[in-house]
Amino acid sequence: MKRKLFNVIIITTAIALSGIIVTQFFWVRDAVNMKNEQFYQNAHLGLKRVINQLMALQNDSLTAAKFLQADNGNNYHSQFIQSLDPALIKRMINSEFKNLELCKVYYYGIYDSESHEFVMLSEDADIHELLNSEHNAPISCVFQKNQYILAVYFPLQRDFVFNNMQIYISLSGVFMLIVVAGFWLTARSWLMQKKLSEMKTDFVNNMTHELKTPISTISIACEMLKRKEIQFIPDRVDKYANIIYNENDRLKNQVDHVLQIAMLDRKDYELKLQNVDLHELIEQSMNRFEVTVAERNGELKKRLNAAKSVVLADHRHISNVLDNLVDNAIKYSQDKPEITISTFSNKNGVVITVDDCGIGIADEHLKNIFKQFHRVPTGDLHDVKGFGLGLYYVKSIVLAHGGNITVKSTLGKGSNFSAFLPFTYNEKKQVVK
Ligand SMILES: Nc1ncnc2c1ncn2[C@@H]1O[C@H](COP(=O)(O)OP(=O)(O)OP(=O)(O)O)[C@@H](O)[C@H]1O
Ligand SMILES: [Mg+2]
Repeated sequence: MKRKLFNVIIITTAIALSGIIVTQFFWVRDAVNMKNEQFYQNAHLGLKRVINQLMALQNDSLTAAKFLQADNGNNYHSQFIQSLDPALIKRMINSEFKNLELCKVYYYGIYDSESHEFVMLSEDADIHELLNSEHNAPISCVFQKNQYILAVYFPLQRDFVFNNMQIYISLSGVFMLIVVAGFWLTARSWLMQKKLSEMKTDFVNNMTHELKTPISTISIACEMLKRKEIQFIPDRVDKYANIIYNENDRLKNQVDHVLQIAMLDRKDYELKLQNVDLHELIEQSMNRFEVTVAERNGELKKRLNAAKSVVLADHRHISNVLDNLVDNAIKYSQDKPEITISTFSNKNGVVITVDDCGIGIADEHLKNIFKQFHRVPTGDLHDVKGFGLGLYYVKSIVLAHGGNITVKSTLGKGSNFSAFLPFTYNEKKQVVK
């Protein structure tokens, strides 16, 4: 799929997902509001039913004579309310609220709407809550003033409404999360695949180029050797034979480098452990690079301070690790390479540090340089060749020995790679992520 098309699909899907999430949020909010409204209506209905029962009670006991004597019935109404049995009110409210399946915890009271004085209050009720409660209704009938108010409040109303909806809210949250996570993982894995495939293509191009150069040099040298007139000039024969030998060696090294990585990936290698003197290995590695560094007027220094430098390790692999680090330090130094290899030991093992004053690595690339095929774009340094496999190999081998490797680098100033190797081999193998 073309990158542009993929980007369009990703962006459209992301927008659609955000739309679904926003819509879902409003749906849930509306559903909670509706539940609250329904709760309010039910509470109101409950209060009205209780009041209707009270009114029926009052009317039953109201004789015409009493009504006429009683100042339009208002005094009688007051007396009736004030003489109400709290247990009776409690029973009435309980039964109505139970029928309407309202929250079981509530407090109620009856107060005078003008003076705000309570004539009845349930146990532990908070007066302010009752006076401010939205659940209230006047106790009256058509010919009486709204003198008394029956009010109720539910301290757990919010929880009650939420508990009712919890399952729907949780389920929609979980499904949303699954969809978003699935989308994110798919997009990320696609991008990673794409990046890996680009890096592999670069690798193949690089490799073809790297192999082509020695092959064409060898073929030219062979053609020269085939010439009759050359065969009688020993110096020329020697020169061309040397060219063939060196280029063949270069070819072999490159193929070995790639094969080492294939071996790491198959995970079928065994470390051949033996006592290895790291100082000795460092000296040998320095000898191998001496000429290259000298040719570029650079300096290869050592500061071998480890009191104990012998570790249990695979000689060949650790030697390759050192070569890779020094090779990088030289390759990624402009002008004269200034490299220092130092060691120190602690109670657990030896730390080898390869320090250079080269081009350095930008922070955003540091976390990736140990990954397979990863190469930092080198800007104007187009001639720096490589497959992006060296540090992957280095880290894999160091981890396989139970050690670790860290890097510090400042762009334009240089890099510092520190590999720790324990004295004794650590069984636990780790894998480069
Ligand atoms: N000492 C260093 N200074 C600056 N950049 C470095 C240094 N060492 C490694 N890098 C960066 O890290 C990348 C990965 O290094 P790595 O050794 O894995 O690959 P490479 O050198 O490109 O190829 P090869 O497989 O031949 O070693 C390099 O391409 C380079 O950009
Ligand atoms: Mg390298």
